Amino acid sequence: MKPFVTIVLVMCIYLPGSDSIGMYGKSVHFPAKTANSFVRLHAPDFSSLTAFTVCLRAASEETRNYGLFSYATDSNPNELLLWQESKTHLRVELGNQKITFSLPEMNALLRHICVTWESHEGEITVWVNGRRSVRKVGGKGQVVKGLGQFILGQEQDSVGGGFDINQSFVGEITDVHMWDHVLQHNDIKKVSQGCLRYGGNIIDWGSTHYTFEGIVAIEDNKDCPL
Ligand SMILES: *[C@@H]1O[C@H](CO)[C@@H](O)[C@H](O)[C@H]1NC(C)=O
Repeated sequence: MKPFVTIVLVMCIYLPGSDSIGMYGKSVHFPAKTANSFVRLHAPDFSSLTAFTVCLRAASEETRNYGLFSYATDSNPNELLLWQESKTHLRVELGNQKITFSLPEMNALLRHICVTWESHEGEITVWVNGRRSVRKVGGKGQVVKGLGQFILGQEQDSVGGGFDINQSFVGEITDVHMWDHVLQHNDIKKVSQGCLRYGGNIIDWGSTHYTFEGIVAIEDNKDCPL
C-alpha cells in the first residue's frame, strides 16, 4: 500500500494539469505502464536547431522498448526521440534518421545520459555517466524544427498525443536539460556529476515550467547530501 499512499500525497501537492515551475532536486516517477501518464516540459519556442545537447538521468527495469525523451513537431512526431530498445540499445531518432548505440544495460540504478549532435558533420555522440561513446554520423545537414512539444513518459505519434501504452516509460527520470549547442567534454563531465553551474538554455530542469497528467509522482530525488 505504501507506494499508493505516496502517490496520492504527491498528487495533492502537485495538481495534474496545473502549471508548475521547475523541478530542481526532484525526480519524476512513472510507477505504472499507462497510455496517458506524462510530463510536458514547456520550453521556450525556438525556430530551429543545428546542434543540441540533451542530458537526463534515468532508471528503468523495463525489458521492452520505450520512449525516454520525445520531441514532436507538426512535420514529424519523431523530430527528436531518444528511444530505448530493449535494455541494451539507445536509438536516437532525428526526423527519419535512426542512429543506434549499444550501451550497458539499463537497470534500477539511475544513470546519466547525454546525447550531443551537430548538423555540419552530422556528428552524434552518447555519454553515459560522463563517458563518451564512439562517434557516429547522423542527421548531417538537417535541422531540428522548432514549435514542437517535449514529453517525458510517452512517445508521441502526433504533437502532444498518439501515445501507445506499450511504448510508455516506467521508472524514474530527473535532471533533464537541453542546450542549443554541443557541450564541451568537461561540461558533460560536470553535468553528469551535478556540478555544472548552469542548466540548459532550452530545457532547464530547475526552471522550465511543466504540467503533467495521469499517474505521476514528483518526489525529492535525495541525490544531494544534506
Ligand atoms: C500491448 O502489448 C500487449 C502485450 O504484448 C498486447 O496484448 C496489447 O494489444 C498491446 N496494446 C497495444 C495498444 O498495442
